[in-house]
Amino acid sequence: MNLPSAIRRYAEHPFRQAVGILVLAYIVVVWVVPVLPGSAIVPKSVVLQYMVTVLVGVLIYVSDNEERWHRFKEPIQAVLVEPRLKLVRAAVLAGVTALVGLVAYGQVTTSVAAPPNLRSIHPAPPAEITFRGKAITLTGLENPLRQHTDSLAAYLAEGKRVYYQNCLPCHGDHLDGQGHFAPGFNPLPANFQDNGTIAQLTESFVFWRVAKGGPGLPREGTPWNSAMPVWEDFLTEREIWSVILFLYEQTGWKPRTWEKTEPGGGSRETGGGHD
Ligand code: HEC
Repeated sequence: MNLPSAIRRYAEHPFRQAVGILVLAYIVVVWVVPVLPGSAIVPKSVVLQYMVTVLVGVLIYVSDNEERWHRFKEPIQAVLVEPRLKLVRAAVLAGVTALVGLVAYGQVTTSVAAPPNLRSIHPAPPAEITFRGKAITLTGLENPLRQHTDSLAAYLAEGKRVYYQNCLPCHGDHLDGQGHFAPGFNPLPANFQDNGTIAQLTESFVFWRVAKGGPGLPREGTPWNSAMPVWEDFLTEREIWSVILFLYEQTGWKPRTWEKTEPGGGSRETGGGHD
């Protein structure tokens, strides 16, 4: 007797065929399907669905013919009743019990994953930043352009130009965060018309956010993929102050001011606004 015919003889048994098909189906669904071009890992619930479908198919096949059905049941029956298979029977019983126990344990056990990070939308700003190598103290800082009352109109015009050339695609024509790129971003671009953004902030906070963008957010302002660019790389200090003037002028909000009564130029809270 050569090896292939021995294998064929072995594989002829309907019970082994059934087990073989189930194992093969599992291998295909779990290991082969994910590496096919354009596929991804198959979720566990889908694997289960496939396996149940395959099992039903296999059962239909083995029970389709009286003799095959009888031969299929033989090994199962033997394990259940034959005295010489006492050990196997005990092992199967212990195995099934342990498996059910494990599954139940896995479902009720509490996981030790880190709690979801609470993100602060307006984290406390730094007291000082460097803007293109120049140190700027944010604490107590007002928009310097407001001192030049006679040039205010010119600064506003500049701010409008800066806004329409740079901010429009995200923050939108109405400054409401509905620019045509906006739906592609999560988090959405800030809606300046809403009372939850610049209306709550000092101009120095806005300056910091515009200058440093999403990448400049401190840890408590993350993790989130803010698409807000780092404008320090593209705009001058004056252009940023101008666009800030424009934002307040256009929305009608008044920037939050520093409390003059406090020594040192204001508290942490007035510095950043809070939620
Ligand atoms: C590529 C899209 C994009 C562009 C262009 C963009 N922003 Fe933003 N901006 C965002 C997103 C997204 C957020 C919200 C997430 C965050 O706060 O970082 C945001 C937030 C802000 C905030 C913070 C508001 C708050 O309540 O904290 C300010 C201020 C701001 N943007 C100003 C500007 C200005 C001024 C410009 C133009 C010079 C501009 N943005 C251009 C995407 C953009």
